[in-house]
Amino acid sequence: MANRLDVVVFGATGFTGRLVAEYVNATYGVGKSVAWAIAGRDPAKLAQVRDRIGAPASLPLIRADASDASSLAAMAAQARVVISTVGPYQLHGEPLVRACATGGTDYVDLCGEPLWMARMIGALEAPARASGARIVFSCGFDSIPFDLGVLFLQDEARRRFGAPLARVRGRVRVMKGTFSGGTMASALATIVEVRRDPAAARAMADPFALTPGFRGPRQPWSSVAEYDDAVQSWTAPFVMAAINTKNVHRTNALLGHPWGRDFVYDERMATGDGERGASRARRLARVERFMGTLLGFGPTRELLRRFALPKPGEGPDRAARERGRYEIGFTGDTAQGQRLRAVVKGDRDPGYGSTCKLVAEAALCLADVGRRTTPGGVWTPGAAMGMTLTRRLQERAGLAFAIED
Ligand SMILES: NC(=O)c1ccc[n+]([C@@H]2O[C@H](COP(=O)([O-])OP(=O)(O)OC[C@H]3O[C@@H](n4cnc5c(N)ncnc54)[C@H](OP(=O)(O)O)[C@@H]3O)[C@@H](O)[C@H]2O)c1
Repeated sequence: MANRLDVVVFGATGFTGRLVAEYVNATYGVGKSVAWAIAGRDPAKLAQVRDRIGAPASLPLIRADASDASSLAAMAAQARVVISTVGPYQLHGEPLVRACATGGTDYVDLCGEPLWMARMIGALEAPARASGARIVFSCGFDSIPFDLGVLFLQDEARRRFGAPLARVRGRVRVMKGTFSGGTMASALATIVEVRRDPAAARAMADPFALTPGFRGPRQPWSSVAEYDDAVQSWTAPFVMAAINTKNVHRTNALLGHPWGRDFVYDERMATGDGERGASRARRLARVERFMGTLLGFGPTRELLRRFALPKPGEGPDRAARERGRYEIGFTGDTAQGQRLRAVVKGDRDPGYGSTCKLVAEAALCLADVGRRTTPGGVWTPGAAMGMTLTRRLQERAGLAFAIED
């Protein structure tokens, strides 16, 4: 490992990958404390990205194509950690994550595609354990703030009450930001798979789809507006709950169920109290159902993709990224009825301005966490790096974790 680059950003020519490269360049420079490179399938495009982000000509460029296994193995062999922003992962992701898992290179990504992750866990847990590679999916807005938010709250509960929280509610209070073309492409690829295959639809609805061999109790879920007494707010379904809840349960399982085998967790948007909160919750629930119907139907999905949704390579501009922010409240109860609340806040828009910092710092954090502490395997961010990552993201990535007394 001694002569390897610390980090390679694969997909640097895409919308999110370029932001990751820009962040690493602005924060760590080139030829200084972090040895890094950018990678992609088109060397000319990579050179343009290097110039556009203001990096010097000494920043290494690596040619690798997601459909060329030997180029991926060669790239993985040069790195301690590969960051992949080449999605949809279910279309392009497997050869690289396989090369890392078998070759012993650590890997982080921005995957929010649970059906693919479930397949990769089944296929790659054994080779990753054997090679020592730590594979960590979902290192962006989904699912770091949620995964670490629950971990942070549970840590404090065990300190204060000597017991874990049996029930936690994640409630998104503020989420200012939009989606990129790559994120829409990934969501559409999942919708197509769910419509085609009833088993995929069942797995998508299953909060324990990422904990093979373990099923906990029934978890709350509702597609309509509901008032939540515990947070005194109206609530609506949250679009990313399907991925985050699975990752949170996987963290509990990977850590040996410190929060109990009966742990219950759900995520919703909190829209406020009173008639205004109620009508906002009803509107959000209607929009989510309407979009589900439109996107679930092939011809309307195709029309939206062509004429309304952002294309690959497109996403929110700098002003929108800088205006964005998010805030998530977590409310937990022990089996004895003690209650604890926490809040996680992030600066910048969740999907891009914040995500590019989260994934870059997660990769650097993983490189620092020894293989004795976290051995090879397929991990979640919370189980692999826990409070070490929480502290690092507070210091460097604009996240704030606090207990609300
Ligand atoms: N979890 C989160 O919070 C979060 C946030 C943001 C994004 N994401 C995910 O990140 C992924 C990327 O999103 P995006 O908007 O950045 O997408 P994008 O702009 O379309 O970028 C896709 C990248 O993949 C590359 N690529 C495609 N096929 C390739 C191949 N065969 N070999 C090598 N590279 C290939 C593209 O290279 P070319 O330039 O050569 O075409 C481009 O660099 C999506 O899956 C999205 O869901 C997740």
